[in-house]
Amino acid sequence: MCPPDFYGIEYEINPWMSRSQQSNLDVARQQWEALHQLLQTLKAQIKLMTPVKGLPDLVFTANAGLVWKDKVFLSQFRHEARQGETAVDRDWFQEAGFETIEMPDDYFFEGAGDALFCGDTLFAGYLIRSDVKALQWVAGEINCRVIPLQLVDEFYYHLDTCFCPLSETEAIYYPPAFDSYAQQALKEHIPHLIPVVDQEAQRFACNAVVIGKSVALNTGCPQLEKALKERGYEAHSTPLDEFIKAGGSAKCLTLRLDGECAAAWP
Ligand code: ARG
Repeated sequence: MCPPDFYGIEYEINPWMSRSQQSNLDVARQQWEALHQLLQTLKAQIKLMTPVKGLPDLVFTANAGLVWKDKVFLSQFRHEARQGETAVDRDWFQEAGFETIEMPDDYFFEGAGDALFCGDTLFAGYLIRSDVKALQWVAGEINCRVIPLQLVDEFYYHLDTCFCPLSETEAIYYPPAFDSYAQQALKEHIPHLIPVVDQEAQRFACNAVVIGKSVALNTGCPQLEKALKERGYEAHSTPLDEFIKAGGSAKCLTLRLDGECAAAWP
């Protein structure tokens, strides 16, 4: 995770962001700290990254890259405003002992924001941020099956805003964010899908952090919390409104260093 010292709405690269709707930095700090504490309570061991002035979205560490064992596929951001993050992420990973892998030129890829393992399959969201060829390239390097999913709603521009694997056979999703082919592919590959309603998708219900049977997410998602309980999960909500102003929530504020793969989960 990366503390929000220099967080703010400095540009507009998704429909949630509006410079006229600034975040309150004190509240953002409190919300971030509460999430940090909650994840620690849920037994996550958290490593921090040093924030950098001028890179307000560095807090969204999910987009640093995709971690696979001791390697990380570094992101290549679509928007210039975020491209400066990659050098910072590269340094951090190298210092932490990861082998860093660069994307081929002209391949946009936004890391764990758009690439999520469910079981041994990589589910990959493309079109709005990451390129399908980039996701296929990453899967080829890992040598795993990839299911490309076309994202069709600008509000759900990263896969982790509309899809969240819970286990090898279960996931949360927001169906309208996907084209019909992608909805079909999800149904075919994941036996238990929990759909979220519009109102809760807007609260970033799908942008949850899963630690074993615990799920950390934004407040305001009672129907999803109930559905999770029915499947044996415990939901822990914490307010993250200041980050929704930039189009992010719990999951975006974290990156799993043990990879996103279910096999590595507790
Ligand atoms: N403002 C950031 C952007 O538009 C938010 C990123 C949220 N991250 C995520 N993994 N969905 O890129």
